[in-house]
Amino acid sequence: MMKDFLSIHDLSLYEFHEILDLSKEIKKNPHHFRQSLKNKVLAMIFQKPSLRTRVSFEVGMLELGGEAIYLAPSDIQAGTRETFYDIGKNLERWVDGIMLRTFAHENLIELAEAASIPVINGLSDLLHPCQAMADVFTLKEKKGNLAGLKLAYIGDGNNVCHSLLLAGAKAGMTIAVATPPGYEPKEEIVHQALEDGRETGFKLFLTSNPEEAVVGADAVYTDVWASMGQENEREIRKKIFAPYQVNRQLMAKAAKDAFFMHCLPAHRGEEVTDEVIDSPQSLVYDQAENRLHVQKAIMLLLMGKK
Ligand code: CP
Ligand code: NVA
Repeated sequence: MMKDFLSIHDLSLYEFHEILDLSKEIKKNPHHFRQSLKNKVLAMIFQKPSLRTRVSFEVGMLELGGEAIYLAPSDIQAGTRETFYDIGKNLERWVDGIMLRTFAHENLIELAEAASIPVINGLSDLLHPCQAMADVFTLKEKKGNLAGLKLAYIGDGNNVCHSLLLAGAKAGMTIAVATPPGYEPKEEIVHQALEDGRETGFKLFLTSNPEEAVVGADAVYTDVWASMGQENEREIRKKIFAPYQVNRQLMAKAAKDAFFMHCLPAHRGEEVTDEVIDSPQSLVYDQAENRLHVQKAIMLLLMGKK
């Protein structure tokens, strides 16, 4: 296993499946892993708000026998009070791993290069790899297999979309992305996904038409239209993204009994209607739960005995 977990692109196919297999094992027998990270400490640096990431990492460390330290945005003022380089050089003297939620992805790279201990991406403007691993784990639980499944992502070509593309590529899925023109996923990530998916059977469709994207989809995924850090664009984005709402009419065009997925938090009534997110086909709380199991697997592989 590599030192850090910054992007799904960095994983070998073996490591990608190893994380999913270990997550399953941990979810089934959590008590087998109660001492696995005994006395280890994870520092969690947050430059943005969080419910799921914060709680699932903290509980994950506790359940593995270790501890987590929460560092709020105002505590260390990362990047302002001192550089990510110096933060890494300090933290490595005290703790066993660092989770960072930040704005620029380069901050994660700077921290990971400085620190000799594992660094985990808890979301950047570019990627949200822990989320996408939990998402494909959830789909695999429901469907048994990932290869050949079709996931339609509707909305903003953002961090969550990027990591889903990279996870779908490793898993040999079909991913259809529908975004308004100008909000497509970054070319750099699309290229990485196509490269990673060359031998897995991965298929990619990019369109601006949500109805076209959802045809035959086993799962329909959406995320907020304005991500953290884009709050001042919220009103303009509401207008641009209105035709991309996931509602009953759009779900009806997907495969019969298609799942609905969302990383949460959701802006109900914007990117998704109540009747879709609260429907029996919605996996959103399973996805949230599975953050815990999948991140325990990631921490174990990075911070456990080699
Ligand atoms: N999905 C997710 O990462 O949620 P939080 O922002 O609450 O951590
Ligand atoms: N795209 C969202 C995901 C939140 C988990 C954001 O970055 O705010």
